[in-house]
Amino acid sequence: MEEKKLISIGAESVVYLYKDTVVKERLKKLYRIKQIDESIRKRRAKLEFSLMKRAFESGIRVPAPIKISDDGYKIYMGYLGEDRFKDNFSLKHMAELGEEVAKMHKLGIVHGDLTTANLMLKDNKLYLIDFGLGNYSNKDEDKATDIFLLRNALNTRHPKESEAAFKIFLKSYRLVYGKQFKGIETHLKDIESRRRYNESD
Ligand SMILES: Nc1ncnc2c1ncn2[C@@H]1O[C@H](COP(=O)(O)OP(=O)(O)OP(=O)(O)O)[C@@H](O)[C@H]1O
Ligand SMILES: [Mg+2]
Repeated sequence: MEEKKLISIGAESVVYLYKDTVVKERLKKLYRIKQIDESIRKRRAKLEFSLMKRAFESGIRVPAPIKISDDGYKIYMGYLGEDRFKDNFSLKHMAELGEEVAKMHKLGIVHGDLTTANLMLKDNKLYLIDFGLGNYSNKDEDKATDIFLLRNALNTRHPKESEAAFKIFLKSYRLVYGKQFKGIETHLKDIESRRRYNESD
């Protein structure tokens, strides 16, 4: 019998490789009432799978969604290898990232945890993973929040290149998103100025 190979254990989930398939299982939270915990975990798994499927079908680079387990707690998806973008960060992928995120946003999907830890490289192409905090949304504010989170993550994890990286990202994002970027930009500026105000407290 083939073995399960552990890839990662996080706060929310455990990810492992079984045959050629990645299995992501949402972990129990013992502080929650059992019935509530079960329904939350199933709902999140279902939403995560649905977002990934919607994105995949529209040609956005995400792992190929395979299925949800019968018990409802696990999602199965294609394996992208081991090359994490945060360990191999490079400016040359930022335009590509802008394009993928803009396409995803145009589709009405927000990621919710856009950091370089949730990006993988395969065949020198960037893939978005981990829709565990994602949602369906067409609100400019939610899209701006995604972009703001990315900017923060770049500042924290890749401080030397962050400014250049974000510039390239945003240029490409704007180009792909089109005229309606204006609304998002307004929210982005708003979030940034609120943030600055809070920092000076
Ligand atoms: N399809 C995949 N192919 C290859 N590796 C993957 C895949 N999906 C997830 N991983 C690996 O497992 C790790 C955790 O996956 P993911 O980010 O989806 O789970 P998570 O529980 O939300 O983790 P975290 O809390 O660390 O963000 C990723 O950082 C990545 O290294
Ligand atoms: Mg993650």
